[in-house]
Amino acid sequence: MSKLEIKDLRVSVDTEDGAKEILKGVTLTIGDGETHAIMGPNGSGKSTLAYSIAGHPKYTITGGTVTLDGDDLLSMTVDERARAGLFLAMQYPVEVPGVSVANFLRTAKTAIDGEAPKLRTWVKEVNGAMEKMNLDPTFSQRSVNEGFSGGEKKRHEMAQLALLDPKVAVLDETDSGLDIDALKIVSEGINTFRERENKGVLLITHYTRILRYVKPDRVHVFVDGRVAESGGPELAEELEANGYDRFVRASV
Ligand SMILES: Nc1ncnc2c1ncn2[C@@H]1O[C@H](COP(=O)(O)OP(=O)(O)O)[C@@H](O)[C@H]1O
Ligand SMILES: [Mg+2]
Repeated sequence: MSKLEIKDLRVSVDTEDGAKEILKGVTLTIGDGETHAIMGPNGSGKSTLAYSIAGHPKYTITGGTVTLDGDDLLSMTVDERARAGLFLAMQYPVEVPGVSVANFLRTAKTAIDGEAPKLRTWVKEVNGAMEKMNLDPTFSQRSVNEGFSGGEKKRHEMAQLALLDPKVAVLDETDSGLDIDALKIVSEGINTFRERENKGVLLITHYTRILRYVKPDRVHVFVDGRVAESGGPELAEELEANGYDRFVRASV
């Protein structure tokens, strides 16, 4: 199973002028094995949603629930959420100087599985995942995200996704800043993950172009901290043609 249920989620951040509400009641269910796309203009709260689900301390949950297969994610620590099967690919992946990709992946895999992966098969798996993402084998020895190009960061995130094998992946603008070749490779990474049994994907994106390669079951338009409209893949086509204007105007 891999059902992610978000109900009436309200989230605020601390600002100099006090708490500011960013998410204003988000309700959304990603059923077992489904891929949902969230599309919305800049500043609509998409990254806030991703971070809040993953447990970033900057965001204060003021209402609502988030469950994964019925378990309350919001009461869990960040590690517990990962062990429960949640994966977040951040819009701006952080640099971890001094920690190699190989060590990072092994530590993450060990933490999630509760035991270290068997060395012989693990090295093969890591090399295989790197190769699929068109990353050079020497890439494993580099510090995590340090000096990576935009495309390398995103392809590295997809290698992580393949190796850590979560139940649900939240991918925040994994398509941003990619050239067409990298976009295809990253999309293949997402699709390979989707083909495994019962995997859920929440694909947050600003542009429709990735949806040509990764076909969503549902599309949600996100405006001003809320889902303004939900529909099938045809909704993405409407956005491609007309932009967010209709939804933004309706929300003010
Ligand atoms: N620490 C913060 N202080 C003030 N405003 C914030 C803070 N973090 C996020 N915001 C605001 O929250 C809104 C949503 O941001 P974000 O979730 O990054 O949007 P998106 O990912 O859709 O572009 C924006 O208006 C942003 O300025
Ligand atoms: Mg964002």
